[in-house]
Amino acid sequence: MLFGPLDPNLLFHFPGWVTVRAIYQQEYGSPQTLALTELERPSIRRDEVRICVHAAGLHIGDAFAVRGTPFLMRMETGWRRPRYGVPGFDVAGVVESVGANVKQWKPGDAVFGACKGSCAELVSAKQDHIAAKPNNLTYAQAAALPTSGLAALHALRNVARVTAGQKVLINGASGGVGTYAVQIAKAFGAGVTGVCSDRNAGLVRSIGADHVIAYDHSDFAAGQQRYDVILDNVENRSLHDCRRVLAPSGILILNSGTGASGLSLLWRIAKPLLLSPFSRQRLRRYLSMPNRKDLETLTSLIDAGSLSPVIDRCYTLDETASAVQHLEAGHARGKVVVLVQSDSETAGTEP
Ligand SMILES: NC(=O)c1ccc[n+]([C@@H]2O[C@H](COP(=O)([O-])OP(=O)(O)OC[C@H]3O[C@@H](n4cnc5c(N)ncnc54)[C@H](OP(=O)(O)O)[C@@H]3O)[C@@H](O)[C@H]2O)c1
Repeated sequence: MLFGPLDPNLLFHFPGWVTVRAIYQQEYGSPQTLALTELERPSIRRDEVRICVHAAGLHIGDAFAVRGTPFLMRMETGWRRPRYGVPGFDVAGVVESVGANVKQWKPGDAVFGACKGSCAELVSAKQDHIAAKPNNLTYAQAAALPTSGLAALHALRNVARVTAGQKVLINGASGGVGTYAVQIAKAFGAGVTGVCSDRNAGLVRSIGADHVIAYDHSDFAAGQQRYDVILDNVENRSLHDCRRVLAPSGILILNSGTGASGLSLLWRIAKPLLLSPFSRQRLRRYLSMPNRKDLETLTSLIDAGSLSPVIDRCYTLDETASAVQHLEAGHARGKVVVLVQSDSETAGTEP
């Protein structure tokens, strides 16, 4: 539970923290409905830890949650009004206290992972949804990892089962998921082609793409190259166009939640799944869920030098509405992070 009753024992440790600063909205709406406010400190269940948040990572799903659209999203966030009201699914910070059943973590541990409502000074998280913060990342960098890094890992490792030598195309290579996907596909030994705007071609090359197709003046679906795996984070091309450049037994992973709503969204979700059984080409959708083991896999890739978060912009807590607006514009260059603390350990791209 995010906002529970006061816990008098903890006031001993943090006498000033009867309430915590957080970004909050009462009703679904534009990012302007988000405001800095004081909320009760969150309570923790037996299997949860309470984290003093240093940085919160945002992704496009936060913009969906703020607006309450697509409507399906409300199954998770609340039907009539936001159940939590605080944006942010990704967190990096220091464990402040632990629930009765938590053995893995203790106060003072630096962690990163997934929770609900990370745009707040304190947050509760399930013990299995966090991992030790990579030593060589700042809190801002660590907060940029969980949702997008796991989405890229799960697509390429679990769904596509990418192997060395395969040809992988990432559409939307310069965004939150794309910048991780390019690096992870390279770490798996694939030959990687990234599709992005001309503006971001240098970035995508710098993180390891062997080829870059700038969509401003080239069309990946019109080329002669065939790909074993296409991870489509944009879905701006028809299934027919994508399948034309997919190898005969290749796999197309459709991974965009944007640009459709209502029945057209349902059809967009269902169509590839209905068509897939009639083709050697596999068409897939997937849902990435956080877990500690895979967060640790991301850490191993970071430690091996194969993965590094690309941060577009950092915002302060009271600038969260602008951060969500920037994501909504659809041209984030890597990840967007909210700095909840302002010390040097939190911010920056160097630990
Ligand atoms: N399956 C899951 O569990 C899961 C988990 C997380 C996210 N997702 C989905 O993954 C998708 C991508 O998320 P994200 O966080 O990477 O989004 P994002 O950070 O907003 O990135 C969007 C990127 O798309 C690029 N782009 C825009 N138009 C393009 C075009 N015509 N061709 C190629 N690239 C284009 C932009 O690059 P330019 O600025 O260069 O145009 C931008 O870098 C979202 O739809 C999200 O819903 C799925």
